[in-house]
Amino acid sequence: MSRDDATALRRLLIRDLAQVATPAGVSAPLRGAALARIDLVADAYVLCENGRISGVGPMRHLGSIDGEVEELDGRGLSAVPGLVDCHTHACFAGDRVDEFSLRAGGATYEELHARGGGILSTVRATREAGEEGLAAALARHQGWMLRAGTTTFEAKSGYGLDRDTELAQLRVIAAAGGVPTWLGAHAVPPEFADAGADAYLDFALREVLPDAAGLAEAADVFLEAGAFDAAQARRYLEACRDAGLALRLHADQFTEAGGIALAVELGARSVDHLEATGEAGVRALAGSGVTAVVLPIAALTLGRPMPPARALVDAGAVVALATDFNPGSAFCESLPIAMSLACTQLSLSPAEALAACTVNAAHVLGRAGMLGRLEPGFAADLVLLDADWRYLAYHLGGEHVAVVVKEGEVVWER
Ligand code: NIG
Ligand code: FE
Repeated sequence: MSRDDATALRRLLIRDLAQVATPAGVSAPLRGAALARIDLVADAYVLCENGRISGVGPMRHLGSIDGEVEELDGRGLSAVPGLVDCHTHACFAGDRVDEFSLRAGGATYEELHARGGGILSTVRATREAGEEGLAAALARHQGWMLRAGTTTFEAKSGYGLDRDTELAQLRVIAAAGGVPTWLGAHAVPPEFADAGADAYLDFALREVLPDAAGLAEAADVFLEAGAFDAAQARRYLEACRDAGLALRLHADQFTEAGGIALAVELGARSVDHLEATGEAGVRALAGSGVTAVVLPIAALTLGRPMPPARALVDAGAVVALATDFNPGSAFCESLPIAMSLACTQLSLSPAEALAACTVNAAHVLGRAGMLGRLEPGFAADLVLLDADWRYLAYHLGGEHVAVVVKEGEVVWER
């Protein structure tokens, strides 16, 4: 190595950690019993070089390090991989606090949507915000996510539903370092209320998809009564697949409407929600490569049944866990809270919950080879906690994130 290369090396040594906890092995995605296997090292170090992990192990194995290295004292802290939120709607303007109050008084999410509120009220606010306003809103939301330990987030469009705002959302998400998903089929916007969902899809696929395909990594559709039916979802997803996008679906949130069969047939990356999924759906997912993304915060917020995550894991399906962070059905950016609910409501263990929002979430985003584990070669994204790592799930709403490291740099510290 030349002298210049040596000085260019950017190193961070996190030493004397009480614990390092990481999903075991290197394979992905994790199914069945493998989801529960965590490697635990006590009195440990993590060495990061140029944004990647170059060593993890017990302190007694740490040899001397030549040259410059920044040190971080890990005494009393435990380290887990940076959390990966593979399903959010974090790029939105405004809020729905008024509707929240109405819902507390008994109005349902579906009723508010049918009256032009719900998703459509966020569409109005997002269209009005402009690209700068949207970037500012996303930066604020991203700060919240980071403090909760999320180092990688996916975010969907779907609050523009016109060409300019949809593309602006995708640009803003990418510029913030998020993984952009084109949710062009989230709702039928008001200007197509009379013409209907098919006319809206004609427009979206003709006018928005060609540019969205260059900005987004995946496409998503809300397959539900009152949104898009299975035939419309198929048309949208097939066009998106042909344009090179990975496929995802919001399905079985309120009703089983063929979303799982369609996801399996089209080889989608994921099918998300699944609050209404029955045994046949569980079996179909278990026999497929489609990841089941469970969103317990949305189920809790809307008072829906919880998705059958335990049955899915036991049947051998790939299960990931995400927040669904959005202003309506899940105004909560915290994966630790999702992990708590995964343990108390979905009967997953803390180890399963951790793997579901690290390795398996990274798999949904096509990044399982580089994110979600504390292993040499992986991105140096870590969360340091001031407690046993299981407090992430154990302490509902607890604030144990002390330091967040992204690509080998401290990006947040309490
Ligand atoms: O995943 N179900 C559809 N979409 C979102 C909600 C978006 C919103 O209410 O603004 C969800 O729950
Ligand atoms: Fe969602």
